[in-house]
Amino acid sequence: MPEGFAAPGNRSLMPIIQTRALRKTFRSVVRGEGLAGAVGALFSRHYEEKVAVENVNISIDEGEVVGYIGPNGAGKSTTIKMLTGILVPTSGTIEVAGIVPHEKRRQNARNIGVVFGQRSQLYWDLPLRESFELLRAIYRVPRAQYRENLDHFVEILDLDRFMSTPVRQLSLGERMRGDFAAALLHNPKIVYLDEPTIGLDVVAKEAIRAFIADINKRLGTTVILTTHDLADVERLCRRIILIDEGTVIYDGKLERLRDEYGTHRTLIVHLKDPQPDFDLPGVEIEHAEPPTVNLKFDRRTTTAEALIRRVTERYAITDVAIVEPEIEDIVRRIYLEGYQKPPARASEL
Ligand SMILES: Nc1ncnc2c1ncn2[C@@H]1O[C@H](COP(=O)(O)OP(=O)(O)OP(=O)(O)O)[C@@H](O)[C@H]1O
Ligand SMILES: [Mg+2]
Repeated sequence: MPEGFAAPGNRSLMPIIQTRALRKTFRSVVRGEGLAGAVGALFSRHYEEKVAVENVNISIDEGEVVGYIGPNGAGKSTTIKMLTGILVPTSGTIEVAGIVPHEKRRQNARNIGVVFGQRSQLYWDLPLRESFELLRAIYRVPRAQYRENLDHFVEILDLDRFMSTPVRQLSLGERMRGDFAAALLHNPKIVYLDEPTIGLDVVAKEAIRAFIADINKRLGTTVILTTHDLADVERLCRRIILIDEGTVIYDGKLERLRDEYGTHRTLIVHLKDPQPDFDLPGVEIEHAEPPTVNLKFDRRTTTAEALIRRVTERYAITDVAIVEPEIEDIVRRIYLEGYQKPPARASEL
C-alpha cells in the first residue's frame, strides 16, 4: 500500500511493548563439594542451565499501567532487564517502541526510564542536584524541558529539602524519590519500575504511587511495575501479568482475577448476645470472637442473603457485613496452588 494510504494514527494501534516466545536461560558452573570441588570447577565443563524466563508473550499498549507480579525467583527482574536491553534474550523477540532493546541500547535508553528499588542509579557522592545535572547532559535533555520537569518533580516529590545532600546521606525514601525524578527527567515514553516501593513507609509509598499515577495520567507514560506489595497494584494497575517459574500464568484485568478466582466471601455477623456454641450446620466458621462470628461461604453455592436468613432463624443479630476476598489472598493461593481454570460463576451453575 502506498504510504499515503496508511490509516491515520495507525502507529498508535501497535503495542508499544511486544515480546514473542521470550526465553532466558542462565548457565552456571556446577561445582563439587569443598575445596577440591571449587578447584575442579575451574577446569571442568559441567554447566547447569537455569531457565529464568520461558515462552513469555506479552503485548502492552501505550499508556497502560501493568503490574508484573509473581513470587521470588519467578523471572520478573530478568524480563525487565531484557526489556531494558541490559540482558540479551536466549531466544524469542522483543520490540519496544519499534526498537530491539539490546541491539540499540542508546536509542532505547531515550525511550525508557528505569527504577530498580534495590539499587540506585544516582551518583553516590554527588548531591542530588548534580546527579540530575549529569543525567541531563547524558540524555541531552533540552534546558527548558529539564527545568520544567525538575521544578515539577521537586514540588510533587518534595525534593527541595535535600537537593544539596550527597546521595549516600539520603534515607531510603528520599533516595527513592530522587531516583524517580532521575528516571523521568527526559520524558521517557515507558518506565520500568522494579519494586519501587520496597522498604518504604506508608507515607512514602503513597507519595510514590501518586507520582506514578500522575505521570501516567498527565503524560500518558506506559508503566510496567513489579512489586510484592499488592496495594501498589490495586492502586495503580487495571491489568496484571502473573508470572511463575518463568511462565506467564495469568494476563488480564485485576478485577477479573478477583471475580473469577475469589469465590469465597466472609459474612461477619454481630450477634445480639454472645453465643459460645454458635453453630450452623454445613457452614464454616472462619473465626469466632463472641459476640462476633465470621462465616465463610462460597458464593457459587450460596448467597449472602440466604446465609443471613439462616442465621436470623436461629439467632438475634445486630449487624452484618460482607468481606470480599483480598487480592492478596487470591494471589497467595495462586502462588501456592498455581492458576487453574477459573471456577464457574454462580449464574452458570
Ligand atoms: N545473573 C544470573 N545468573 C544466574 N541465575 C540468575 C541470574 N539472574 C537471575 N537468575 C535466576 O533466574 C531466576 C529468576 O530471577 P529474577 O531475578 O528474574 O526473579 P524475580 O521474579 O525478579 O524475583 P524477586 O521477586 O525475588 O526479585 C532465579 O531463579 C534466579 O536465581
Ligand atoms: Mg526481582
